[in-house]
Amino acid sequence: MNVLGIETSCDETACSVVRNGNVVRSNIISSSLALHARHGGIIPEIAFRAQLETITPVAEQALSQGKVRLDDIGLLAVTKGPGLLGSLLVGVSFAKAVALSRKIPLIGVNHLHAHMYSPFLTARRELPFISLVISGGHTSLYKVPASGEPALLGETLDDACGEAFDKVAKILGLGFPGGPAIEKAALSGDPEAIRFPRSNTRNEFDFSFSGIKTAVLYYWQKHGRKHTSRKHGKKTVADICASFQRAAFQPVIDKALAACARSRIRALAVGGGVAANGDLRSRLTVSAKKFGIQTLFPEKKYCTDNAAMVAGLAFHLFKEGMRSDLKLGTDLDERS
Ligand code: KG4
Ligand code: ZN
Repeated sequence: MNVLGIETSCDETACSVVRNGNVVRSNIISSSLALHARHGGIIPEIAFRAQLETITPVAEQALSQGKVRLDDIGLLAVTKGPGLLGSLLVGVSFAKAVALSRKIPLIGVNHLHAHMYSPFLTARRELPFISLVISGGHTSLYKVPASGEPALLGETLDDACGEAFDKVAKILGLGFPGGPAIEKAALSGDPEAIRFPRSNTRNEFDFSFSGIKTAVLYYWQKHGRKHTSRKHGKKTVADICASFQRAAFQPVIDKALAACARSRIRALAVGGGVAANGDLRSRLTVSAKKFGIQTLFPEKKYCTDNAAMVAGLAFHLFKEGMRSDLKLGTDLDERS
């Protein structure tokens, strides 16, 4: 069965045709990121205006590149939340209109559950597994059982990990989004050069990133000028990026593995924009191997927001009997 996935929860307008949960026939993403860059963050009004303009052409392109017509689509899948209200409404309204006019079944998908599914667009899905969703909006650990809803084990108490990368990049003048820029700069830096604090939380599976971000800010205010001076050859911006990355990821690695140990589950699936980071991928994989835990990452193009993960998950939900009706609304609560 061909599923047309629609994802408009943040800055992207994305549509994808996926057959039987894992054969990605097209994956079209149009981003308004460039329009937000000078503001240093996403402006909701700019995002949804762009989505209103792009949703129809992006859907048409997904169909034509997937070599299917609307008549070949057996299911419409749309992100219902969490996300930006105006943006979500564009996708949900569009999906409902197509469902109504073409009599195609419809499923509203939780954006986080879609990220959790993303590694399985290219790998066999075996349940149960522990899921780490690490993105610009979320940093959460879930236990995904053999049947039923994912159970939240812990989440960030303040900034999301990707958000901390974005804020640190802004402090250092590296542009937006910050994750890829920090990863690139960190490649030539020393992760041991500066010891930024590792986060500490009361619940062992919760996260906190605001302390590390503030430590970078204070460090930069105190030593920043030296880093921009050509004469200062020792600690560079690259060292700050590498040290920040090390401090941000160490608790993530430790807590994800602890969640596997506590649940006696030997599969750890990672999803979300930060899962594209090569340092996180390699260090988590090496550490997990020592405990006999298998790590599963999405292909890099399926880490950041995309509609293939929405269509892929919806195929399985449909098989389990789930359907949405035309009363489908947006869901701003993460846990729904
Ligand atoms: O999943 P996503 O596209 O959107 C949300 O649902 O939040 O994630 C975007 C986030 C941004 O904060 C971005 O800086 C971060 O993912 N990101 C990265 C990398 N690529 C994207 N963070 C660290 N390293 C990367 N390579
Ligand atoms: Zn996302």
